[in-house]
Amino acid sequence: MKVLNAEFVTSAADARGIPRDGLPQIALVGRSNVGKSTLINALAGRKIAQTSAKPGKTRLANLYRVHAQGGRPDASGAPGSWRFYLVDLPGYGYARGGKEALGEFAHVTGEYFGAVSGVEGVESGTVTLSDSDHDESVTVPLSKPLTAVLLIVDARHPGLEADLAARDWIATLARPHVVVATKTDKLSRSARARAVREVERRMNGPVLPVSAETGEGLDELWTHIVTLASSR
Ligand code: GTP
Ligand code: MG
Repeated sequence: MKVLNAEFVTSAADARGIPRDGLPQIALVGRSNVGKSTLINALAGRKIAQTSAKPGKTRLANLYRVHAQGGRPDASGAPGSWRFYLVDLPGYGYARGGKEALGEFAHVTGEYFGAVSGVEGVESGTVTLSDSDHDESVTVPLSKPLTAVLLIVDARHPGLEADLAARDWIATLARPHVVVATKTDKLSRSARARAVREVERRMNGPVLPVSAETGEGLDELWTHIVTLASSR
């Protein structure tokens, strides 16, 4: 995939800040420090998202507009041209951030998914996200959501409670989603195969192994993104 352009567009703390220009929006959801922002940079092929070795870096919904070419050809046989947003959201499960950070995740994420849902026939979905000390739940209005979701988990930590809760919540969105297991470079080849199987067992579905470090799995992830971006 050739990325023709990838740029930061805006940071949104609430629904009013979310662009609604009709481009597909693909949101990255996952634990704090799992590597969401790093994955956005790896996909974009440039450093557009801020990353940190310390959890809790991303505090707002950050939207990046991407224009990429390649993958599936269009109807005329020309290389496919894909325009969409990647949405970097604050992570959950950052215990040291305490209630405030967890509340921020719930707030920003709830606002985000509320904003990209339509207004007709509103249904709602509730998510409860916990870490060792806190529970936080958020109810978001859901109808005709315009978005797809990448749930990012750490290949080394299959089946964390917070990830299972996030998976269940994402299922209520009734939008296309893909589970991605990242940081595979931190595992040996044999441990990696075992870990991916275990993540799939715990997540109860297929999981795409990737590494932002080595680039493993990024081509496959692009294929999924193209499918998600054209599935509205
Ligand atoms: P929050 O913004 O706190 O929610 O975190 P995040 O999910 O955006 O994580 P971020 O991308 O900031 O990455 C956290 C740390 O993990 C950084 O030190 C990254 O360099 C590292 N990291 C991310 N992806 C990978 C990967 O595929 N392999 C390795 N080895 N390190 C990675
Ligand atoms: Mg981040």
